[in-house]
Amino acid sequence: MFGAETLDHVAFPVRDLPRAEKFYLETVGLTFLTQRKNADGSPRHAYVKAGENIVGLTLPGVAVPASASGAPRYAIAMANADMFGATVKRIQASGVKCAEIENHGAESPFVKAFQFIDPDDNQFELCTRRQPLATKDGISHVIFETANLARAKKFYTEGLGLKLVGAVRGETLFEFHNGQMVGVKEVKELSERTKKKGRACHVAFNVSQEDYDVMLERIPKLAGKSLGDFRASDGLRPPGERSIYFFDPDTNYLQITALGEEDWSLMSDEEKWQRTIANREKQGRGISSFDKGMKIQK
Ligand SMILES: [Fe+2]
Repeated sequence: MFGAETLDHVAFPVRDLPRAEKFYLETVGLTFLTQRKNADGSPRHAYVKAGENIVGLTLPGVAVPASASGAPRYAIAMANADMFGATVKRIQASGVKCAEIENHGAESPFVKAFQFIDPDDNQFELCTRRQPLATKDGISHVIFETANLARAKKFYTEGLGLKLVGAVRGETLFEFHNGQMVGVKEVKELSERTKKKGRACHVAFNVSQEDYDVMLERIPKLAGKSLGDFRASDGLRPPGERSIYFFDPDTNYLQITALGEEDWSLMSDEEKWQRTIANREKQGRGISSFDKGMKIQK
């Protein structure tokens, strides 16, 4: 059956990495995986985990306030009501801006939800779900802004093969094979938060090798835009793994990956930069100021 299988990882912008790590580990209760560095040895991002899903807290961050629309927004599923309640209490006590706890009706895929804004002005959510995710999956859903709902619906259903679930809280949800979701919220104008994004901040889906070829064709036809695969040209993709970064029709920054037989995603920083620098030299170019370790995006 054609369609993206899972939501694999998200990366969003943070301006102060130690503060973000402390917040997501101690307050939200995610677990630490690793911290990655730029070519000059300065910190680039921390990977923390929600279930087996990687959440990338990514420098240098953006100097842009939280959007008014509530999107882009990243949502983590809590395993049960007790964990949800305890986590909500810690977040409320931390002093970040919080909404009220929502109790959803039987038609909603959620039972309870709680939205807040993190210390770097990212919209975030905790939820419990009517159909729980597998224990390895921690990311429940991600909500993006769209300036054209009909166009976005076509893109996510026909281009990426997601199943239309329906609208909840004015957000239209689409489901992956495993029950994780992506949603869109229609806005008159995209927020600065959607436009600025933050360097290397994206949301990544896993797809089969077969579907990858179909999506590659459909993405540009349905108003998306492929940005290619800089990791492949940097020599960082294992044999058989294929991936592209792309924009949806509203310039939300996405990635699809059809995995190969090996996983090189946690190659050491030393090896990664050696390979990257050697490959870029072959192509007659150097590494960007961002890769060297750049300051905050204005
Ligand atoms: Fe990625």
